[in-house]
Order: sequence, then C-alpha cells, then structure tokens
Amino acid sequence: MPPSDAEDLQPRLLAWFHTHARDLPWRRTRDPYAILVSEVMLQQTQVERVIPKYAAFMAAFPSLEALAAAPTAEVIRLWSGLGYNRRAVNLQRAARAVLEQHGGSFPREVAALRALPGIGPYTAGAVACFAFEQDVAFMDTNIRRVLRRAMADPASAGPEPTERELLAIGEALVPPGQAWAWNQALMELGALVCTAAAPACYRCPIRARCREHRARDERETRAREGQPGYGSGEGREGAGARVRARVAERSEEPYQGSRRWYRGRIVEALRQLPAGTAIPLADLGPLVKPGFSADDTGWLRALVTGLVRDGLATCDDDTVGLP
Ligand code: ADE
Repeated sequence: MPPSDAEDLQPRLLAWFHTHARDLPWRRTRDPYAILVSEVMLQQTQVERVIPKYAAFMAAFPSLEALAAAPTAEVIRLWSGLGYNRRAVNLQRAARAVLEQHGGSFPREVAALRALPGIGPYTAGAVACFAFEQDVAFMDTNIRRVLRRAMADPASAGPEPTERELLAIGEALVPPGQAWAWNQALMELGALVCTAAAPACYRCPIRARCREHRARDERETRAREGQPGYGSGEGREGAGARVRARVAERSEEPYQGSRRWYRGRIVEALRQLPAGTAIPLADLGPLVKPGFSADDTGWLRALVTGLVRDGLATCDDDTVGLP
C-alpha cells in the first residue's frame, strides 16, 4: 500500500476508535494477568456474555497467584456458561507456568508468551500488545475481516490474500507507539461496523479506500440502474464465504448431539456435584443422555477418557469427578 494511504487510514481509524470505543473492563487495565483472562474468554465467546463472567472470575481469582493456587475444579466451575471448558484448564496451566518459569512476572515478548501452555499466536500477540503496549500485529476473526476487506490493496483484483500475507499487511500498518489503540480499533470496527453479515459501510471511517465497500456500492448502483447482476451479484466475499463467516462467528454453541455437546453436558453435570465428590459412570450416564443404557457405557467412558486427557475430569474405578 502506498504510504500516503496508510497515513490517512491510521488517523481516521484511531480517531473513530477514540470517539466510538465501548468502555470495556479489560480496556481499563494493563495488568497482563487480567488481559490474559479476558482474551482467553473472548476468543470464542461474545463480549456481552464475557463481561459478567470476567468480573466474577477476577473477583474469585484476582491474581495470577490466586488462580495458580486454586483447585482446578473451582476454575472449571467458574467457567460455567462460557463453553470450551479446556480454555479454563489451559488458563490455569499458563498461570502456573508464569509462576514457576518466570517467577510470577509475565514475559513481555510474543515468543516467550507463546511458549506458555495453551497460548497461541493470537493470545500471545494480544497480551504483548494490550498489557505491554508492544507494537505487534495479530489476527482474530474481526481483525482478519477488516484487513481483508479494507486494507488489502484496493487496486488488486487478484485472489484473497493468504493468512501470511494478511499478517504482513497487518504488521506494516501498526502505527509505531500506538499499537494498543490500533489493534483495539481494528477489533472494534469489526465488531461494531464491519460485521460479517451486514457491514454498516455508511458508518465506516475508512470506507473510501475499502474494496468491499466499493464492490457493494457498485452492486447497488447496478441494482438502481436495473442492470443485470442485481440480486445475484456478489462482492469479493461471495455468499459462501459470508455464510461460512457467519457460522464461524456463531459457533459458540455446539451442535446438539455432537461430541463437543456431550462433553459440555458431562462437565456441566460434574459442576453440579458437591465439591470434592465424584459420581459413578452408571449414574452419570442418565444425567447426560436421556435413555442412557448399559450399552452406552463404552461410549460414555470414551468421552470421559478424553476429558481426563484434557484435564477436565478425573476418573478412578469408573467414578468421575472434576479434577
Ligand atoms: N475480542 C477479543 N479481544 C477483545 C478486546 N480487547 N476488546 C473487544 N473485543 C475483543
């Protein structure tokens, strides 16, 4: 992208962010532990649902030390309602690793953060940027969509940029010293304006240089003028891509009857047990699956074994509990 475009783009998006940003609790802190908690929660769960869960979690485990010292069962209990329970176990593992390997001080560099258990490129980048204000780029669904639509070279008619190309575009755009606001702004634009299904281009501060907006504009002009292509015309992101994006962004709830759904039901049943107690497989079965019979025991045991492997359950003598 020519530098003049980037120079225009950055102040526009940053100015928009300063006036339109939501006041979210994790934007008021630079505590790396709090940032890590929020980012892990936000990875597959929507902001509105995360806000109360984040507050409850921080009240129960206000520090890295508190989380590291807690019984894992407590952490899993507090994760109720967020889904993807493995995130709770991984979060605690990361906290313990920071304590054991880094003396309780979070590493600041992306590479060292990535080396922590359960921390992938997104989380490492988010903590480096949102806690330590490092000038780094990273991808999540919203950032990826905004970059793909608006920041990839608008003159290019070629194929969609690859993930690696997008990351390079993202890295080149980070305004030195302002990565915190920049990355929050990309996310905020993706969440509030540049949504997957219905982007509100008329409210977008950077639409002038957006190829997705241009494609939509041209479609509307054709429609107004009654030219062919109306109704069936698709922008650079076709119908298939949009449906996939929508499905991906709504995948908080697993399909009923899927393995993930049953795993969630098992963990939920274990959460209901009095603390420190466990339940025989034969009693767990009917809580998880209506019409459970002895024939289902092998199926249930296999699910439980997977949960034990992921640190979400214990199983001794076919008796199951939270770890
Ligand atoms: N999703 C992931 N991280 C976020 C953040 N910091 N603010 C809003 N939404 C987010």
